Amino acid sequence: MIISLAQPAQAALLEQIDKSQSFSAHWTLQDWQGEFAQPTSYIQCAQEGGQVVGFIVLRGAAGQYELLNLAVCPQCTRQGIGYRLLVQALDHLAAQGAQEVTLEVNANNVAAIELYKKAGFVKRSVRARFYSDGADALLLGKTL
Ligand SMILES: CC(C)(COP(=O)(O)OP(=O)(O)OC[C@H]1O[C@@H](n2cnc3c(N)ncnc32)[C@H](O)[C@@H]1OP(=O)(O)O)[C@@H](O)C(=O)NCCC(=O)NCCS
Repeated sequence: MIISLAQPAQAALLEQIDKSQSFSAHWTLQDWQGEFAQPTSYIQCAQEGGQVVGFIVLRGAAGQYELLNLAVCPQCTRQGIGYRLLVQALDHLAAQGAQEVTLEVNANNVAAIELYKKAGFVKRSVRARFYSDGADALLLGKTL
């Protein structure tokens, strides 16, 4: 598997993966294009056999980053791709001087919560009934 900087021309591919997930951000193509235009955005994708199979998006400044989106295509989950995308991004940002990464996750999203726990994120607070399905949002953070 290869992890590399995603290119604006891949926006439509990333949108397809994002759309196919139950818990991802469901960004439109315009959202993706807007994210690629952000100078403080860090977007990496994972490729397997020439196919994009996952991505991670973080954005931040002054040492504080937020993980905005992360997904692995449904047929490629549980192969360590999400973990590798996450750890690679954290290592990269730490090397750039980042001190803190935060994120928000649906309390029902067991797979993502377990992934973040494995990568060393801890619960900072809860936003009760934050999502449209009535689920809480967990705010997680990791000091790099
Ligand atoms: C969350 C997601 C990115 C995980 O990607 P993945 O490539 O399957 O994860 P990995 O194979 O790297 O797993 C790493 C760890 O995550 C946890 N994990 C992953 N999937 C899990 C599941 N279905 N149930 C429980 N734990 C799970 C485990 O701790 C796993 O470590 P282990 O293999 O040693 O048990 C993927 O399920 C996904 O795309 N989900 C939909 C989008 C989403 O929820 N994004 C996060 C929004 S906040």
